[in-house]
Amino acid sequence: MTEIPLPMVPAAKFKKHILICTNERSEGDSRRSCGRCGGHELRMRLLALIQEHGLKGQVRANKTHCLDVCELGPAIVIYPDNLWYVGITPADLDAIFAQSILADNYIPEQVATDATWERLRQLRAKA
Ligand code: FES
Repeated sequence: MTEIPLPMVPAAKFKKHILICTNERSEGDSRRSCGRCGGHELRMRLLALIQEHGLKGQVRANKTHCLDVCELGPAIVIYPDNLWYVGITPADLDAIFAQSILADNYIPEQVATDATWERLRQLRAKA
């Protein structure tokens, strides 16, 4: 039997990569946008936490455009763990950082679950 070699899996550049939605829609747009409801403040606090913990180069916090969860924003997602936190404030970030960046864990009460996505689906069905 011939063995088929496994494909090479590239190494991750960062231990954790955090995407923070800072999308800003125009003034008259009826849709919510994270850049107008705390996204920028979340990013600034995350940058400060990365600096405080000496994790520059290991943990990256990038602003991004819409993550498609606008109704529940502001939103961040942490990879490679695929942890979504929505509707959070800068005051929530210390605990999230401690659990999901420093401890490879998550906060069950705050991390998005299937119920979160169902709530989003229902909100969109009403709109
Ligand atoms: S504007 Fe932030 S998720 Fe859409």
